[in-house]
Amino acid sequence: MGSFVRLEVKERIAYLSLERPKAYNALSRQVVDELDEALEEIASCGSISVLVIRSRKNFASGADIREMADLTQAEAEKFSFSPTFDKLAEIPIPTVAAIEGYALGGGLELALACDLRIASEDAVLGLPEITLGIMPGAGGTVRLPRIIGEAKAKELIYMGEKITAREAGNIGLVNSVVSPDSFEEAVETLAGKLSARSGSALRAAKRSIDGSLQEPDRRRASGNERQNWSALFGTYDQKEGMHAFIEKRRPEFEAGKSEGS
Ligand code: CAA
Repeated sequence: MGSFVRLEVKERIAYLSLERPKAYNALSRQVVDELDEALEEIASCGSISVLVIRSRKNFASGADIREMADLTQAEAEKFSFSPTFDKLAEIPIPTVAAIEGYALGGGLELALACDLRIASEDAVLGLPEITLGIMPGAGGTVRLPRIIGEAKAKELIYMGEKITAREAGNIGLVNSVVSPDSFEEAVETLAGKLSARSGSALRAAKRSIDGSLQEPDRRRASGNERQNWSALFGTYDQKEGMHAFIEKRRPEFEAGKSEGS
């Protein structure tokens, strides 16, 4: 892995961290290119069941303003982080953003591309792009309204003000807020729980939820859900999960296998 992104895999959980502390983990083009490479590696590795993105001290302070300041319109289009953040959003396994310190602009958009967000009480979140004369351009106007609703998303984007982790928890921007002392443990517990669940069922649930958000026709969305649901009856995990219930024992789900394999 390159010099600004570190990938560690422990017990089927991938931990991806940004390592550009002097710039509060600002996202330069190089950082995002390295992130993209790491995502390719994770997606091609069938044995990873959960992805956690966490960076020490600060999650990420947004796109690198020094690199963007003099971009032309055509250069800005190439600089855009959307292809990489979409790749993250589309990775088929559950993803978690573990937010400490600042998660601003593109940094918050990186977290929005994850399925779940857990924040330390000291986290500060926001989309300050408007104060720089631009708007969020890496999924902020797309994912934020779907996560917290249109009115709150417009408020955060129009005002560009930072909010605390507690406020983020209250509006559903983060799933949970924990004290800095127990943050690391809480992140690992959450990742461990996800990793112990049925991988095939989690992937089907993610596919179904994400598919339904893009499907305006409710009946078609229900049809897709039915297909995702019924396909699970061809998996080892469904038989194991249901027989374990009947036999009053804990299920032992298949580790790291995709459905059908
Ligand atoms: N880009 C480039 N450098 C950044 C940066 C960023 N986004 N965020 C922080 N830095 C750098 C600072 O320039 C500074 O570097 P020097 O020591 O070389 O001067 C260093 O990190 C520390 O920053 P501060 O001195 O400003 O530290 P602070 O504690 O006073 O404030 C902060 C921290 C609140 C994060 C502040 O740095 C800040 O507001 N950063 C910018 C946040 C922002 O606007 N992000 C959105 C970017 S636009 C975007 O993301 C577009 C998009 O849609 C993808």
